[in-house]
Amino acid sequence: MRQQIVAGNWKMNNDLSQTESLISELKNIKKTSNAEVMVAPTFTNLLTAVKALKTVDIEVIAQNMHFAENGAYTGEISAAMLKSVGINTVILGHSERRAYFNETDDMLAKKVDAALANNMRVIFCFGEELADRKSGNHEHIVESQIKNALFHLDASAFKNIVLAYEPVWAIGTGETASPEQAQDMHAFIRKTLSNKYGNALANSVSILYGGSVKPNNAQEIFSKPDVDGGLIGGAALNATDFFAIVNAF
Ligand code: 13P
Repeated sequence: MRQQIVAGNWKMNNDLSQTESLISELKNIKKTSNAEVMVAPTFTNLLTAVKALKTVDIEVIAQNMHFAENGAYTGEISAAMLKSVGINTVILGHSERRAYFNETDDMLAKKVDAALANNMRVIFCFGEELADRKSGNHEHIVESQIKNALFHLDASAFKNIVLAYEPVWAIGTGETASPEQAQDMHAFIRKTLSNKYGNALANSVSILYGGSVKPNNAQEIFSKPDVDGGLIGGAALNATDFFAIVNAF
């Protein structure tokens, strides 16, 4: 049985006091599903979140990191720095990082290596843009994003990799991929993994869907056989909505 995961990506939202209030609301809601729950506050609030969530079953994760161990990279944060404040999982390759901060597949391959070398787990994001979907090129794009950043890894590395398919046209737009579109792509991703690493590995990797997941559509999306959870943006900023999604499993 693959691990079900619901992760909230808070993006560049919530200052320290807003982070504290959201966390105290999250702590008051009962989890009724078996999904693993994660939240990704911004860097400045990670330590506060780690301390505040120590007693509950919600993992605090980071939204990004640099690939170097340390050095002259003004404004950047390393894996070791994240580990030192209790962070063991990092989101890499989010489409907003690719689009606004020019993150390339090569850079992401290095970031993945750095995270794994520091015994961190990676939630690796990828997804096509609307033009790719319209031209029927979406599978090709997704396949190349996965191959370029991950296929240099040994099979054993995949125990620390979670995949997150986030079609760019569905992020923050209110437009969700239909449950069938999500299922078709997740099955394609699993086949891509299977072709390289074999069926057993492909069937062991959790693949999350992200893009306008809300309380009213989560259950249908999560009911698809190859969808193992969600990476949630906007709805993760509201504790009630976020847990409605967590409890949709
Ligand atoms: P929304 O849920 O706001 O569409 O964002 C999805 C996302 O980008 C999560 O990483």
